[in-house]
Amino acid sequence: MTNLNRIKNNSYLRELADSGSLSFKKMIQPLFVVEGLANREELPSLLGTFRDTEKTILKQMEEDMKHGINHFLLFTVPKQKSDTEFPTDFFSRCIQTIKSEFPSCFLWLDTCLCSLTTHGHCGHVDADGVIDNDKSVKTLSMLALQYAEAGADGIAPSDMMDGRVFSHRQILDSNGFRHIPIMSYSTKFKSNLYGPFRGAADSSPKFGDRSTYQLDIRDRETAIRSSVRDAQEGADLLMLKPGITSLDLIHEIKIQTKLPVGAYQVSGEYASINLLSANGFLKREDGLIETWQVFRRAGVSFLITYAAREAQRLFI
Ligand code: PBG
Ligand code: ZN
Repeated sequence: MTNLNRIKNNSYLRELADSGSLSFKKMIQPLFVVEGLANREELPSLLGTFRDTEKTILKQMEEDMKHGINHFLLFTVPKQKSDTEFPTDFFSRCIQTIKSEFPSCFLWLDTCLCSLTTHGHCGHVDADGVIDNDKSVKTLSMLALQYAEAGADGIAPSDMMDGRVFSHRQILDSNGFRHIPIMSYSTKFKSNLYGPFRGAADSSPKFGDRSTYQLDIRDRETAIRSSVRDAQEGADLLMLKPGITSLDLIHEIKIQTKLPVGAYQVSGEYASINLLSANGFLKREDGLIETWQVFRRAGVSFLITYAAREAQRLFI
């Protein structure tokens, strides 16, 4: 069931979702917390982005909030991989600590299995290496519920299994979490631009690729249908990714769904600007501003970008 009040009743969500033009207030900062990490590590291609410890993440967020960031997208990377048991203590502890330290931040949790499993796929795989869609949806929905129970403010399903948004909505609603919004990775292409992220989240597939669940870049109709479907299943916000390969779809998906549509300027997009800059071919900040101006022109309601924490300074 569509719930229009979910966004209406939360000022942080309204800010993200409204149709005003892109500004730092509409940016979401991704964060990585790695279990058992001794010292935080900067990611070489993602300048200014760290794999944080449970402690250093708090300092980082404090800095980010000083720079006008209210929305965070948290990726929790557990120490121990497993294909059957996903212990809740690490991520619950992270969420609880963050929310008790910063009650006013809006904390989105990415739900996916790729950084949890030994094989690195986004769902369960059977003995033949084939994705088990329905079993994956069950596990992912349980995970979403556990995130909500630990204090997550919003859920961002990124797995691309069929029916996950409906199932997430159902399990959240029936457990007292009707107010928790779903920001769905609703049009997510199989892409070559996720490389640096997979290093950060330790989530590369160990065999095959993600083409049986992520979208084919050539297929416009299915790309649109994927977002329309998530809207029908109850997503509150839609998000397209990679941003740069989705620009031509934003307007059409807004028209068809009437929902806020955002984009994710993914790790490969951000890294390419850094690497050009490091080699003297452009000024990093000018490169960032130029791409953000194009996202604004394309009409995104919000943007996930690794440089969100610089946007107040660069972009207003
Ligand atoms: C997990 C996930 C990915 C990204 C966000 N969530 C990687 C993938 O699908 O392999 C990519 C983000 C980025 O590249 O910045 N499913
Ligand atoms: Zn995944």
